[in-house]
Amino acid sequence: MQQSIRIAPSILSADFAKLGEEVRAIDEAGADWIHIDVMDGHFVPNLTIGPAVVKALRSHSGKPFDVHLMISPVDSFLDAFAEAGADTITVHPEAGAHTHRTIQHIKSLGKRAGVSLNPATPESALDYLLEDLDLVLVMSVNPGFGGQSFIDSQLRKIEAVRKRIDALGKPIDLEVDGGIDPATAPRAIAAGADALVAGTATFRGGPDAYAANIAALRGE
Ligand code: DX5
Ligand code: ZN
Repeated sequence: MQQSIRIAPSILSADFAKLGEEVRAIDEAGADWIHIDVMDGHFVPNLTIGPAVVKALRSHSGKPFDVHLMISPVDSFLDAFAEAGADTITVHPEAGAHTHRTIQHIKSLGKRAGVSLNPATPESALDYLLEDLDLVLVMSVNPGFGGQSFIDSQLRKIEAVRKRIDALGKPIDLEVDGGIDPATAPRAIAAGADALVAGTATFRGGPDAYAANIAALRGE
């Protein structure tokens, strides 16, 4: 059940001094979702933004906020990100001892729930979870930084997750994150992705280039 391709620019590559303007610019340039990378300097070796920033950005776009939590422990922050305006909340199974409970918690907040698989995390981490998910996020780089190279072995994982989703017959989004550009995007899509995160490839060239950059990821 592959859907039309959604593009989710990662604001990690935006100009942080003008984040509101940047979010408005990618919204107008054709972004489907706004991907927000939350890092804690512990689960991943970088620090980014918290719920206060998500809340401040909320008025700048009506598009879904796709919040990718790379923080551990994660459970104590779910309510804050939901209240801040997240639409989808994605967690890593390694970020807490009870992923199923974490997913139930996200759903109880009325939000879409996602699970993200690191490059070395097998698709079997979705066992007993997939049916409760709205989204699976396959990391095609190790999380922590923008601008890294796409890891080819993750194409096999995207194919495997696509098969699992299709076998289940539920409209679960299959998103890929890391090293997505006009060369890797079609490969991820061919493997079964229907949502693509792109930081570097969206924001390069500044606001005047955003629309063309997003179109190029769609193969236009
Ligand atoms: C990495 C983040 C990504 C990152 C993607 O930990 O989850 O969303 O911003 O950046 P690019 O598109 O530059 O690889
Ligand atoms: Zn991300």
